[in-house]
Amino acid sequence: MIDCHNHTLPGIDDGAHDAEMAMEMAQCAVKHGIHTIVCTPHHLNGVFSNDRAAVLAQVAALRSQLDAAGIPLAVLPGSELHLVPELPARILEGDALTYADRGHAALVELPKHTVPTGTETILERLLYQKITPVIAHPERNSELIRDPHRLAEWVGWGCKAQLTAQSCSGDFGTRLQSQCRRWCEQGIVHLIASDAHRPYGRAPILTDGIAVLHEWLGDQAAEILSTTNPRKLTEGEPLLSIEPAPMKRKSIRDLFR
Ligand SMILES: [Fe+2]
Repeated sequence: MIDCHNHTLPGIDDGAHDAEMAMEMAQCAVKHGIHTIVCTPHHLNGVFSNDRAAVLAQVAALRSQLDAAGIPLAVLPGSELHLVPELPARILEGDALTYADRGHAALVELPKHTVPTGTETILERLLYQKITPVIAHPERNSELIRDPHRLAEWVGWGCKAQLTAQSCSGDFGTRLQSQCRRWCEQGIVHLIASDAHRPYGRAPILTDGIAVLHEWLGDQAAEILSTTNPRKLTEGEPLLSIEPAPMKRKSIRDLFR
């Protein structure tokens, strides 16, 4: 498996505190079947800046440590880019990292509780620059939970959506899990990732989330979200979309989900 969103690089954001914790996270990932990670430290979120050069240097250092320790985990560079007005220019200037530094798709993060004025303008600007915005964990944004059709609109323009595996498996509550399921069934989700910050708790484990996707969507669509699209992101290829699930007769319980 490939994990396209995690905070394994040590000491540069709210992820791994130090090299030792980064190695524990790497061991945990390998133990749970992950062979490649795209490291995505926070960028310009008001606390951490982490420009391209800093992330590339950290990735090289982590690779050396993994090699020395004999841990079979490939490491690629990336960033979780806060959606700020200067982001499109930062990417053009080569200051902000796209997935695997390929210049095709970028992991973008909204604030936790709001969709700031101007969000649509920034997304449009990125699309115009031929950068595909991948919206990080939309299920963790309160405003998108209140108005979930907004994500569908962005996906209609060409944006993509990435859910957190633990949201799908219900670790963050049934409300988030239910919204994940609805978006999956509408065919507007493109991949899942761990968003791991620690070797425990928010750990680099995808298997539980993937099992839930198989249950919700069937094997073919779950494979696209868990395997095909993460690989395509690392190779700089366009992502596949899944078909909306056939409409089911709703039970009373579904109506209140
Ligand atoms: Fe993250």
